[in-house]
Amino acid sequence: MKVLVTRPLPNEAIEMLKKKFDVTLNAEDRPLTRQELLDGLKGKDGVLCLLTDKMNAEAIGANPQLKIIANYAVGYDNIDVKAATANGIPVSNTPGVLTDATAELAWSLLFSAARRIPESDRFTRDGKFKGWGPMMLLGRGITGKTLGIIGAGRIGAAFALKSKGFNMNVVYYEAAGKNEVLEKELGAKKVDLPELLKNSDFVSIHVPLTPETKHLIGEKELKMMKPTAVLVNTARGPIVDEKALAKALKEKWIFAAGLDVYENEPKIEEELLKLENAVLVPHIGSATVETRTRMATLAAENIIAALENKIPPTCVNPDFAKLKKSK
Ligand code: NAP
Ligand code: GLV
Ligand code: GLV
Repeated sequence: MKVLVTRPLPNEAIEMLKKKFDVTLNAEDRPLTRQELLDGLKGKDGVLCLLTDKMNAEAIGANPQLKIIANYAVGYDNIDVKAATANGIPVSNTPGVLTDATAELAWSLLFSAARRIPESDRFTRDGKFKGWGPMMLLGRGITGKTLGIIGAGRIGAAFALKSKGFNMNVVYYEAAGKNEVLEKELGAKKVDLPELLKNSDFVSIHVPLTPETKHLIGEKELKMMKPTAVLVNTARGPIVDEKALAKALKEKWIFAAGLDVYENEPKIEEELLKLENAVLVPHIGSATVETRTRMATLAAENIIAALENKIPPTCVNPDFAKLKKSK
């Protein structure tokens, strides 16, 4: 069986795959070009791909021999899951193993934006620190404030639970049911999106990117937020209208934003790059040594299961087999 791995990953996972399969590894630490990806998929039984690899209907349709598409990410908006299912191909992701790492990054961005840490660091290095100042670099307090969670799934809930030490009033917005754990542990309340935006001092986004969540936060929503509020996005860039956000930060409709993800990665809206109240990091939500290793081995476990004719442990389209049989 032949497996394509589209970029160097923690070695444990590569070794797991090499023991069982003929592995083609893109040894260069850069994304494959479109053509390299399409060529590389030819004749492969499995692919371990990244969120930067667009596994659309074209790539999938040209490779119906694939028996597994294992994404090295929990979000799988880069994969046309419908096309995979129609071709009887299971798709897997890496849920759970990156939950705390991503929630920790969201807190890092919240603190950084609220307390103006990157701006203060630039200020200090630029030699502007001439002594303690009563009005110097004032930020926003966190303890006792209202925290709004958009999408109380694995990461959103873990992020909310970490607020315990800060005695916050937690509200959340969810598509479907209630989050009983958050309600019980934090006294959190489920609210609609306008209510969350109007009342929260901190808003953190944790929904997946879907047609419903694209531009969930645009000009209208940003205008509902408090002028003292901080917005954090570690989910997916297109959930926020980036141009509108730049305008909101520039014109101080909100206090600050902390962003890990962008609408057209790796491009970033020019205006954002100029703003002191935008804290910008390069999609590093899951970037810890422990988490990246576990993501790699989980993706490898999914490939091994699928190529040994078992259901992949973290399959997002468990109906793939049914459809294949009825084909
Ligand atoms: P999850 O457990 O599936 O949580 C997503 C939550 O969003 C669920 O509670 C879901 O509700 C809710 N939701 C879905 N569609 C919604 C909508 N239209 N309106 C309101 N709520 C909606 O996923 P997760 O593991 O927490 O990951 C969340 C996302 O974070 C991923 O999809 C990924 O894009 C992103 N992420 C980014 C990084 C990074 O490096 N920055 C790292 C990891 C993950 P239901 O369950 O009821 O559908
Ligand atoms: C990273 O962005 C992921 O979805 O895992
Ligand atoms: C500040 O450094 C203080 O002592 O209040």
